Parts: sequence; structure tokens; C-alpha cells
Amino acid sequence: PPGPPGPPGAPGAAGPPGPPGPQGPPRIRHNRAHLQAAQMLGEKHTLIRVHAALLSAAECLIKSLINPREVSQTDSTFGSWMKDTALLHNEKIWVAEHFSGRVVKEYQSLGAFQNGSYTLVDVRKFFQGCGHAVHNGSLYYHIAGTPTIARFHFETRRLHILHIDNALYHNLAYLLQNSKTYFKVAADENGMWLIFASSVDDVIMVGQLDQKTFSITSYINTTYPRAKAGNAFIACGVLYVTDTKDNRVSFAFDLLKGKPVNVTFDLRPSGGVLAMLSYSPKERHLYMWDNGYVRLYVVHFISDE
Ligand SMILES: *[C@@H]1O[C@H](CO)[C@@H](O)[C@H](O)[C@H]1NC(C)=O
Ligand SMILES: *[C@@H]1O[C@H](CO)[C@@H](O)[C@H](O)[C@H]1NC(C)=O
Ligand SMILES: *[C@@H]1O[C@H](CO)[C@@H](O)[C@H](O)[C@H]1NC(C)=O
Ligand SMILES: *[C@@H]1O[C@H](CO)[C@@H](O)[C@H](O)[C@H]1NC(C)=O
Repeated sequence: PPGPPGPPGAPGAAGPPGPPGPQGPPRIRHNRAHLQAAQMLGEKHTLIRVHAALLSAAECLIKSLINPREVSQTDSTFGSWMKDTALLHNEKIWVAEHFSGRVVKEYQSLGAFQNGSYTLVDVRKFFQGCGHAVHNGSLYYHIAGTPTIARFHFETRRLHILHIDNALYHNLAYLLQNSKTYFKVAADENGMWLIFASSVDDVIMVGQLDQKTFSITSYINTTYPRAKAGNAFIACGVLYVTDTKDNRVSFAFDLLKGKPVNVTFDLRPSGGVLAMLSYSPKERHLYMWDNGYVRLYVVHFISDE
């Protein structure tokens, strides 16, 4: 089984802050510069120490969700609505309808999406659930019926497969029951993550997903039971989990410090199916597929005050 999270690093390990970048709050710029440095040194824990040293955790917590907007109405109760979470100027939209299938719809822009003009992409394996993500030109998804995650590159159509040990992946033992999802891929300011449930003790685990090697570099045990989770997303290094009615965010866990944080807030009225809940670090939007509607909220962090 994956081991427990390592102890949080000592503050003060950080180097000098990097030069200011073109956009985004300073903490993210520091973070990225140090992430690169950490990767070059091959020290995966450096980032965690740097982050802890530079940030007071409170700054990066969600204060509120503001400016709700309806993006579209769909014909499907279940689905996933995706933009590339890494490529800044990519306007494309991908939609995976239902909680299982082998094709996704690709739209060139929001205009094309609203006009309903798409091309179908065969992603080579059947996906399961509504927890996919598009990152840097690839679709990441759970291959139905297996304990594996696929990375499908849209341009080359190449498929890479990552096996996850000790994860629940079949027999209706879902990570997220309401959306029939066993694995959820998430991207935030720190990179990519994989959320799943442990087959050993049914708790929610989060793996840090390294894009270069397409492997999990560390596992974090949140100790939170999957039975209490409706949906989940990750923003700014914090995992947010909703209650079983997807009514409120009822649990939050700081993945970089490895401990729960005391944050709860209302999300949506109960009723209907919340199929997808995904944070976009590029736009700082929270997207949801709620009862067949795709909606977004602007995420307001405490540091935005
Ligand atoms: C969408 O349709 C409108 C009206 O038919 C057209 O003007 C526009 O160019 C279309 N946009 C795209 C992206 O297809
Ligand atoms: C995206 O992938 C390309 C290779 O396809 C790689 O060179 C680049 O560093 C990646 N960019 C990001 C933001 O991960
Ligand atoms: C998670 O942590 C709890 C509490 O320390 C422990 O009992 C449990 O075995 C751990 N689970 C996994 C899968 O590491
Ligand atoms: C969590 O925060 C709320 C409101 O800020 C407070 O009333 C409550 O005591 C806190 N709980 C814990 C366990 O710190």
C-alpha cells in the first residue's frame, strides 16, 4: 500500500524568490521557479518545503465562489467539460458525454461549442467516470475496468498507461459515487494530481502526478473516507471535498502540508446529479456539470482581498 505522507519540510529551505513573472499572484511565480529548480535537482520534496516557506496556508484558501455563469445546457446528465489546463492560448474545448465511452467531442473554440460544430476523437480505450482532464495536449482518463490511467496525446494519438496500485477501480466501489467515478485527474497551480480511493481502507488518497515521467512521485493519505464524498477538486494545493449531496464543500485538506484545513462553504442546492467539479488554474474558474448544465464560478482566494 502507498505509504503515509512524509513530514512537512522545515521552513527556511527556500532559495531567494524568482523574478516577477508576467501574471498571477507572486506565490505562484515563486512556486513555478522553484518547481523547475527542484525538478532539475531531482528533489521532489523541495517544492513542498518551498511552498510551505513562502506561503501562509491561509492565503491560498478559497474565500468564496463569485460571478456564477452558465456556459451551456447539454443533453446529458453525466459528462465532463474540459479545456487544456496547461496551454494558455488554447481555445479548444473537449466534452466527454456520459460516464463511459470511447469518443470525446472536440470543439475549436467556445463559438464552435455554442454552434455545436465538433469533431469526434476516438481516445483508443473506454473511459469510466467524469474525472478526466486535458493537460498540455493530452487527455488523462481512467481506463474502464482497470486500475490504470491513460494519457492520450490528441496530436500524435499516442497512448501511455499508468498502473495505480491499491486503488479501487471496479465493482461499483466508486471514489465519487454520484458521478460513477473511480479516479479523478486534477490540475492546479502546482501541477497535476490523481485522486482515488484506497482499496486497503477506503480512504481518499491523492497522488502527485509527474508529467515528464507520467508517474506518481508521492502519495498523500487524507484519511477521509470515500463514503462521505460527493465530488472533489484541487485548487492551489488544497483538496476540497463535497458532502454526499454535493451541497457544500465539507472537507478540505492541504496537500502540501499534509493536514486538514478548516474550510467549508456552500456550493449548490441539493438535487440532480453533479457530474463534474473541476478547477482551472489558468482561468481560476471552477467548472461544474450540474444537472446537465455546465456552469462556472470565479474562484476568490483569501489572498485576493
Ligand atoms: C457560429 O455561428 C454564427 C452564426 O451562424 C457564425 O457567425 C459564427 O461564425 C459561428 N462560429 C463558429 C466558431 O463556428
Ligand atoms: C508540454 O509538452 C511538451 C512536449 O509535447 C513539452 O516540451 C512541454 O514542456 C510541456 N509543457 C508543459 C507546460 O508541461
Ligand atoms: C491512512 O492513514 C490512516 C491514519 O494514519 C491509517 O490508519 C491508514 O492505514 C492509512 N491508509 C493508507 C492507505 O495509507
Ligand atoms: C472552524 O472554523 C469555524 C469558523 O471559522 C469555527 O467556528 C470552528 O471552531 C473551527 N473549527 C475548528 C476545528 O477549528
